[in-house]
Amino acid sequence: MEFLDLPQLISAAGTVRLPGSKSISNRILLLAALATGETEVCDLLASDDTERMLDALKTLRVGVTHLGGESWRITGYGGCFPVRQAELFLGNAGTAFRPLTAALALSGGDYVLKGVARMHERPIGDLVDGLRQLGADVAYLGNEGYPPLHLKPATIAPGGSVKVRGDVSSQFLTGLLMALPLTGETVAVDVVGELISKPYIEITLATMARFGVTVEREGWQRFTVKAGSRYVSPGTIYVEGDASSASYFLALGAIGGGPVRVAGVGRDSIQGDVKFAEALAQMGARIEMGPNWMESRAPEGGLVAVDLDCNHIPDAAMTLATAALFAQGTTTLRNIASWRVKETDRIAAMATELRKLGALVEEGEDFIRVTPAELKPAAIDTYDDHRMAMCFSLAAFGTPLRINDPKCVAKTFPDYFERFAQVTRAAPVIAIDGPSASGKGTVAARVAAALGFAYLDSGALYRLTALAARRAGVDWADEAGVAAIAAALDVEFSENDIRLDGQPVGEAIRSEEISSGASQVAALPAVREALLFRQRAFNTGPGLVGDGRDMGSVIFPQATLKVFLTASAEARAERRYKQLIEKGFSANLPDLLLDLQQRDARDSQRSVAPLRQEADAKLLDTTALTIEQAVNQVLAWSREALQ
Ligand code: DC
Repeated sequence: MEFLDLPQLISAAGTVRLPGSKSISNRILLLAALATGETEVCDLLASDDTERMLDALKTLRVGVTHLGGESWRITGYGGCFPVRQAELFLGNAGTAFRPLTAALALSGGDYVLKGVARMHERPIGDLVDGLRQLGADVAYLGNEGYPPLHLKPATIAPGGSVKVRGDVSSQFLTGLLMALPLTGETVAVDVVGELISKPYIEITLATMARFGVTVEREGWQRFTVKAGSRYVSPGTIYVEGDASSASYFLALGAIGGGPVRVAGVGRDSIQGDVKFAEALAQMGARIEMGPNWMESRAPEGGLVAVDLDCNHIPDAAMTLATAALFAQGTTTLRNIASWRVKETDRIAAMATELRKLGALVEEGEDFIRVTPAELKPAAIDTYDDHRMAMCFSLAAFGTPLRINDPKCVAKTFPDYFERFAQVTRAAPVIAIDGPSASGKGTVAARVAAALGFAYLDSGALYRLTALAARRAGVDWADEAGVAAIAAALDVEFSENDIRLDGQPVGEAIRSEEISSGASQVAALPAVREALLFRQRAFNTGPGLVGDGRDMGSVIFPQATLKVFLTASAEARAERRYKQLIEKGFSANLPDLLLDLQQRDARDSQRSVAPLRQEADAKLLDTTALTIEQAVNQVLAWSREALQ
């Protein structure tokens, strides 16, 4: 299973441009083509579907100019396409095929519309039936009821009303409504069956309104376009970003200080989920909005819990459930029964995963109640649900955590975690790697104390694993057995002691025998894997100094500063010799030197995470340095890197 380990976050600020919504992009392109005047379309989504629509418009010789980036200029012809006869290939773009069919069928030209094989399996009969009621001449070139289609010149004679089914795809109604102003007459559309995907019809009506056409609506049954309705360019129009995706970034600003700005969705949004900003404001977030942007900041005293009916923002409300981890009090989200029938049972999934982090959660058939607690590291399952992955990224403000199967975000936001990383600041890490007895442990502990950071002695984890395996009678060469022990280690690091299963073992893990065992178990890939997240879980605020062999290469490749701290083997053997003599042990210098050289060889020649100086690590050779000199050098580099 793939995973993504997130360090604890300490702040969030910046701007995120959301990818444009696909359905809004293609609606705007078509209406701009049908309008009189030039329309500058900004933030258009770059995708297959929008490319098919742009290609079709170019073939019809609508003015299409790429202005750079995501901006395009469309020059409309008031509903009459300059090219009266053409064959259009529309791939598998339903959002291009259906509306273009309607518009071209009513425009008096002669057109053939084709797509890929799959497109020819997607029904279009209900739309064609509606168009025929208006007098359109549409022939099926393949199977009855399916593309490809031949649209022939015809006399359009609106008979006052048209019936169209609404329970298969809302795109039939959308296509028909967008084309109706081309008839010039008053036409009413009666929806047969229960209309599905109503929010998409709202988007259609709102987009038509931006181009100057108002549709009269009686419930969700009857829609009327009045005689004389004409599309007129609004001048410049922005394609909105996905409003639900905006919720994660607004929450980041509200928790992590901010300001975090989302560009692409704002006050003028036609998507219901922008109401999420109001919910976040009720939690205390300071929200500002422009026509096409929103921005959030944390309130002075932190967020406060809310009790909210979330029926109107079911998707974005999931973001409130994880934001609740940072609000004072108990948050209740009500009227969310629909969560139970989404990508997964989202109430159950949310409750299970929030509890893993330590939060107190109560769930009911249609509500969830979250009481924050001090969060603890956990591996979060995402249930093949993009929103679970994105929501739980917020929890990183409370603890380092692991997100399992992070690529599930591709459904709506493939580069979510890249954007997330751009606007968040993680707790910094100073990674100090080097060979045995180089003095890195002493240096790392002192640097951590001076900076007020936590300290991770990663070698101790391998030593503890060797000791625990020995105590359990598991052979150091038994990879699976030792890995199971490593995964289940019950350790406690305190200021002056290390406990294993509640017993102090600070001395026991430093024996020569356990040193040798640690080096052996450290060469086993499964053992390193088992200890990976345990080490990353030390990456908390305000910061961490970690020492070992692979701090900068494997555990914390994003470390703020990487130091490779070494000394000649002779100098290290001599230091170890002095230490042992001072403690009253007998010692033999040549033996110590040989032992160190053997361990160096094993640590640097193993296949997994070998000891080596990373290209971006600073080299500190302490052969001729005192401890103080080494500490001061690392502190100087640290302060520089932390600025
Ligand atoms: O740093 P130390 O001597 O306490 O490490 C004990 C053993 O663990 C040593 O043989 C190397 C291994 N080790 C490792 O492989 N990776 C680390 N990050 C730390 C230690």
